[in-house]
Amino acid sequence: MKRTITILVPAMLFVFSMSFMFDVEKIEEPSKAISSTSSKLEMPENIKGILDKSCMGCHNDASTSTKGKMKLNFDKFNNGKYSTGKQIAKLNGIVKSLTKAKMPPKKFLSKYPDRALSADDSKALSDWATAQATKLAGE
Ligand code: HEC
Repeated sequence: MKRTITILVPAMLFVFSMSFMFDVEKIEEPSKAISSTSSKLEMPENIKGILDKSCMGCHNDASTSTKGKMKLNFDKFNNGKYSTGKQIAKLNGIVKSLTKAKMPPKKFLSKYPDRALSADDSKALSDWATAQATKLAGE
């Protein structure tokens, strides 16, 4: 009996810990994230133009602004790195940053005034982000 226990207990612990490992893997399974982005961010040409001019420099994988791309990275919308919930939160964050005229940063604009958003650009971008967030929320 004692012998059975000395074998059984470690065996059970092993199985138990393995099940944890598999659970962890399940949580981080990339396919889940990819399927959640089945509908990619739609980026019409005019929006792409505005983003390229005023935002992308700091908010994509290639950006040298570590903080900027950590807070918002457009590449992560379409490569499965942002869950649907995260995409919605980021899109809402974009609307908020535009409402408050927080982005692009003032310091950047003082150096590159031609990168500023016109009122029309800001509205187009904000409407686009709102529509994309609404669409994702409805899926
Ligand atoms: C010069 C670099 C730069 C440009 C250009 C820029 N950003 Fe940012 N952005 C940043 C940085 C840096 C942060 C992080 C700021 C912080 O944490 O205080 C940030 C943060 C953000 C956030 C997250 C805010 C938060 O509190 O989580 C949003 C949304 C955002 N930017 C949107 C935009 C949009 C939209 C544009 C274009 C209209 C833009 N940014 C252009 C550098 C930039």
